[in-house]
Amino acid sequence: MRTKQRRGAGSPQEIKSSGREVRFSEIKNYILFASVMAGISIYSTTFMHLIEQNLDHKPTVCVWSLEIDRKHLQHVFDLFERLGFQTTDEIDSDWDVMWAHNCPFFNQTLAQIMRNLKPHQRVNKIPGNNFVTQKMAFSIVGGSFVPKSFKLPEQHEAFLEYVNKFPNKSFVEKSIFHRNVSIKALNDISKHTSEKFIQEYVANPILIGGRKFDIGVYVVITSVEPLRIYSLEGDATFRFCTEPYEPFNASILEKYVIGKDYLPAYKVREMQPYLKLSHKPKDAFDAYIRSIEKDPSAIWQQVRDAVESVYLTRLDAILPYVNKYKHKNNFFELVRFDFILDENFKVYLLEANMSPNLSSVKNSENGIRHDQTLFSTLSLVGISNFFTPLFQNENRSREMEVSKRNIMVYPEHCLKCTDCSSINCQLCEPCLTEELLNDIKATYREHKNKNRFKRLFPPKMTQEEARIGIPFRFNEKLTMQTIQIYRWFQGKCLLDDSWC
Ligand SMILES: *[C@@H]1O[C@H](CO)[C@@H](O)[C@H](O)[C@H]1NC(C)=O
Ligand SMILES: *[C@@H]1O[C@H](CO)[C@@H](O)[C@H](O)[C@H]1NC(C)=O
Ligand SMILES: *[C@@H]1O[C@H](CO)[C@@H](O)[C@H](O)[C@H]1NC(C)=O
Ligand SMILES: *[C@@H]1O[C@H](CO)[C@@H](O)[C@H](O)[C@H]1NC(C)=O
Ligand SMILES: *[C@@H]1O[C@H](CO)[C@@H](O)[C@H](O)[C@H]1NC(C)=O
Ligand SMILES: *[C@@H]1O[C@H](CO)[C@@H](O)[C@H](O)[C@H]1NC(C)=O
Repeated sequence: MRTKQRRGAGSPQEIKSSGREVRFSEIKNYILFASVMAGISIYSTTFMHLIEQNLDHKPTVCVWSLEIDRKHLQHVFDLFERLGFQTTDEIDSDWDVMWAHNCPFFNQTLAQIMRNLKPHQRVNKIPGNNFVTQKMAFSIVGGSFVPKSFKLPEQHEAFLEYVNKFPNKSFVEKSIFHRNVSIKALNDISKHTSEKFIQEYVANPILIGGRKFDIGVYVVITSVEPLRIYSLEGDATFRFCTEPYEPFNASILEKYVIGKDYLPAYKVREMQPYLKLSHKPKDAFDAYIRSIEKDPSAIWQQVRDAVESVYLTRLDAILPYVNKYKHKNNFFELVRFDFILDENFKVYLLEANMSPNLSSVKNSENGIRHDQTLFSTLSLVGISNFFTPLFQNENRSREMEVSKRNIMVYPEHCLKCTDCSSINCQLCEPCLTEELLNDIKATYREHKNKNRFKRLFPPKMTQEEARIGIPFRFNEKLTMQTIQIYRWFQGKCLLDDSWC
């Protein structure tokens, strides 16, 4: 509707101009002046209203948080301002983007709004993603990337069995209600009956400069059906414990729990030489790992595998929630996954944070990193490179970004298709459905806009692998929609290796 109204408003040149507010108010004044001079009342209120609506429209972001703390979200406000957005906190107004700090699907008023979104509206949370980000999530995920976990009291039996089998292991207790973590004596664990989360303690962490550290990797899920995940591992964060690990003492948390007052990488002697020359923490870390004759790429591969495995395991739980919403493409989510490494360079996934702290009050080095993380995220999901609102939803603009000619794959194969039963033929005319076409277009735009992000799922491939098809390890784990997108990436990869 809005697009149509706006269309008659002025020539594209005028509208594209960056100083358009100024220009249009000049036009308004001119019209007013002209009508007064001519004594003709062309400047009716309807006309005025039309001009206001058409010309002064800025895209709007609604920032929502239950305990709104502007300082905490300052980077979010600043970035949207720079992108030409106006801010509102009226959740039921006509916003284009919602930046929610809390989960909007758990608030009745908002959940209602989420169910009736317009196709162009975007929200930075995905329904059901809490199955990955909530504390207890990993006790269900299991797998080799997650330290053995138990939810008490339900899994008390299993826990005791595990303790009997491995009497020397120690455990940390995590509460659902607060962030405190500490190693607990077995007696203490067993005697309480309240709900809690027990996780095996990774007792042999790798140390740098004698300190334990964790690695935070930002990940954006742009869609769960089909599944598409991107990661910003190049901008991983490294947080070190404030106290040296040895001599170990479980009652001194600062030795092994990375808290609010962590030590940033630039304060750690082993990282300093690189950071002083303006290298990023990730590159400093990789250089350090190479200096002790290890291969950092093996670490990052495990990081990607862990995130992939978490999502493939939890998809069954997430999908029913996403499918309740009319337009699944409204939603995306930025999550920070926290990892630690043991001395064998094995990666463990400890936590996923649904609203990673992007505040940089204390540490200005973090400021630029947070800016870039957010900017890259909004680019990836197509917000920071919106066409001017006037044209955002207009067909020609959308076609400029991506049209059918950009997305067709498997040319030889398509010639031979006689029906639409094989996946490859579903990617060809005339089988290609409107829904799949839209998913592919969204995928194409993400690839073009991914900025500093790398595709994590569907995973990187070689042209040789693309020719073979989807790896065996994914058998029966992927939905039909995800298989189609995966096959589409393989088709693109065969035509142009920048898509591999
Ligand atoms: C839901 O969100 C609205 C808008 O921020 C707020 O007024 C209301 O208190 C929230 N409800 C609950 C139960 O948190
Ligand atoms: C457990 O630790 C004790 C002493 O620390 C040691 O003697 C014993 O061999 C360990 N047992 C296992 C199974 O590792
Ligand atoms: C969490 O730990 C801090 C410091 O160790 C302590 O002061 C606080 O009471 C703990 N909070 C809870 C809820 O246990
Ligand atoms: C561990 O630290 C606590 C608290 O600082 C101290 O009381 C205790 O003596 C320490 N234990 C050992 C074995 O050093
Ligand atoms: C976020 O991190 C900053 C330091 O970088 C800290 O001052 C602030 O308290 C943190 N906010 C939350 C909500 O944890
Ligand atoms: C714009 O695209 C939609 C959907 O593809 C189509 O239904 C509509 O007719 C198009 N409008 C124009 C003016 O081409």
